[in-house]
Amino acid sequence: MKLNKNYNNLKQNYLFSIIAHKVAEVAEKNPDKTIIRLGIGDVTLPLVPAVISAMNGAVDEMSQKETFKGYGPEQGYGFLKENIRSYYERMGVCLETNEIFISDGAKSDLSNILGLFTEDNVVLIPDPVYPVYVDDNVIDGRKIVFADADESNGFLPMPNEAVNPDIIYICSPNNPTGAAYSKEQLAEWVAYAKRKEAIILYDAAYECFITDPNMARSIYQVEGAKDCAVEICSFSKIAGFTGMRCGYTVVPFDIEQDGLSLNKMWLRRQTTRFNGVNYIVQKGAAAIFTPAGEAQIRQNLEYYKRNAKLIAQCMDELGIPYTGGENSPYIWLRCPNGMGSWEFFDYLLEKAGIVGTPGAGFGKNGEGWFRLTAFGSYENTLEAVERIKILFGK
Ligand code: MLT
Repeated sequence: MKLNKNYNNLKQNYLFSIIAHKVAEVAEKNPDKTIIRLGIGDVTLPLVPAVISAMNGAVDEMSQKETFKGYGPEQGYGFLKENIRSYYERMGVCLETNEIFISDGAKSDLSNILGLFTEDNVVLIPDPVYPVYVDDNVIDGRKIVFADADESNGFLPMPNEAVNPDIIYICSPNNPTGAAYSKEQLAEWVAYAKRKEAIILYDAAYECFITDPNMARSIYQVEGAKDCAVEICSFSKIAGFTGMRCGYTVVPFDIEQDGLSLNKMWLRRQTTRFNGVNYIVQKGAAAIFTPAGEAQIRQNLEYYKRNAKLIAQCMDELGIPYTGGENSPYIWLRCPNGMGSWEFFDYLLEKAGIVGTPGAGFGKNGEGWFRLTAFGSYENTLEAVERIKILFGK
């Protein structure tokens, strides 16, 4: 056998595994300490009633000979794809149902889609960003160039003509910084991708947190993006599906090269390598887009936004610079007193029993920064904010 030596080029462990390990150690040593977890962006509110009721109905269907379902379509059931299509239509984006592919979440498809591209593609990745993009490409051995995001550009890097990427990653609202591109800014990225004959892989996992109408919720809100962008999204954040595993990927018909259609390639890939998401979960996901589902989900999103506001207000009071928190569930703050990211992680965990995510885990530009999530419970967020205020003398 010949093992993939690129695994040697990965950091030894995945960021959130390192954190979980460190937290478990502290918890074991301090059984009396209540630890508040604002690290990984995992939701805490249960699934909304509309989703539960749809899934209960689907379980009943599975129990009857007449309505039982075996293998489903690899690319997802029509009823869910149609609901997603009409969700996009309501934001002014016209998609065909066969451009939408149901997945078991954004993380898998962010990696799987790379199978359509050879290893000699040059990849442009923002720094800092969700570490999965880098790891996926390190594993495949692609050359990675970074688009530097920092305070000077509001953590929103813009195209650099001197760089010639083939694959461009954009995550907006960004994980971890919470910074979101306006439609005008994204139009610059689309024009750049076309000049460079590159493809954009657009991660829209946090679009549901956007309230500012100037910000884009989908790359397809930019004219011409359907020629050059794949959009990957998840129901994890919009509807608390982190434990359910369901999302979707939009691969437009218009992306072609040398007679190869990306949509057809993806369909071919999915039919061979994927057997679809289970029927019950897809029924639950479809209920997200019903009037009842949408109303219930809006309430949950408001709950998390209230948490984000609490954390942001705390940073304002303490005079700690930050981004995010408004169109995003993440607050990206500068570590106080010049501390390094991991130093602050240890300090906050030991002194206040609060878990966050060290910015350095998202790339070199994240050093000296730190991410807190608004996905905790309101009570825990309130308690965390009080502890932070006490720690920093307010
Ligand atoms: C995060 O905390 O960055 C995310 O929850 C990770 C993910 O969505 O996989």
